[in-house]
Amino acid sequence: MKFIHLSDLHLVGSGATLHGLDPRDRLRRCVAHIRRFHADAAFVVLTGDLTHGGEPGGYAAARAILAEMPMPLHVTIGNHDSRAAFRAAFPHVPVSECGFVQDAFDTPEGRFILLDTHEPQQAEGRLCAQRLAWLERALRTSSGPVFLGLHHPPFRVGLGRMDRIRLRDGESLLGVLRPHLGRVRHMFVGHLHRALAGSWHGVPFSGVRGTNHQIALDFVTQDVAPVSFEAPGYGVVLVSPEAVVAHLEELPDGESR
Ligand SMILES: [Fe+2]
Repeated sequence: MKFIHLSDLHLVGSGATLHGLDPRDRLRRCVAHIRRFHADAAFVVLTGDLTHGGEPGGYAAARAILAEMPMPLHVTIGNHDSRAAFRAAFPHVPVSECGFVQDAFDTPEGRFILLDTHEPQQAEGRLCAQRLAWLERALRTSSGPVFLGLHHPPFRVGLGRMDRIRLRDGESLLGVLRPHLGRVRHMFVGHLHRALAGSWHGVPFSGVRGTNHQIALDFVTQDVAPVSFEAPGYGVVLVSPEAVVAHLEELPDGESR
């Protein structure tokens, strides 16, 4: 099974630039690249921050550009999103009974669970009791391999600002996952605007670049997350019973591969 991991589009409403870059143009380039080289992917998982400020125009643009991809899109939201504006623009995206942008869907390699860590007016991520109870049910009603997707990582990565705005409820998430840890095959995160991989309490994870700007690998600066202008990118994930392989496609300026 092959799928695409997209994250952190940061579209703006007016079509203006963000950090001197055009988020719509860069997303269009990524979508064209996916269409050209990975049209055989089974689905796309998008781990949040579709917009930079929850702008309705940003969601309209996201919907139009993402619709160019031929495969199904599974999406949750991040701290830069607005849950209400997202749901207005993407009314077909499943939500939990409490209105969180959470979904569990079955794939040939196991159940994929998307969690909504957005908390209004907060940069850090939250998983409240309602969201965790939904996760517990999604896990309890499946017995095979599980994949997780969420915006905020529950772990520190060594970047001061990003560590402070990680998922606040990591310990609670771990508590829900603990009876199932042996079958949680991989966790896909956004938020960091960097390609990285590792493991958290034995759960392998990977994160991908954003499609607009990146966050510098700066272990010194503490008060802000310095923007960097590394190329946009997205993940190409290959899953078999034996392995999960998370590639990064990056799109250098001026060439498509
Ligand atoms: Fe982001």
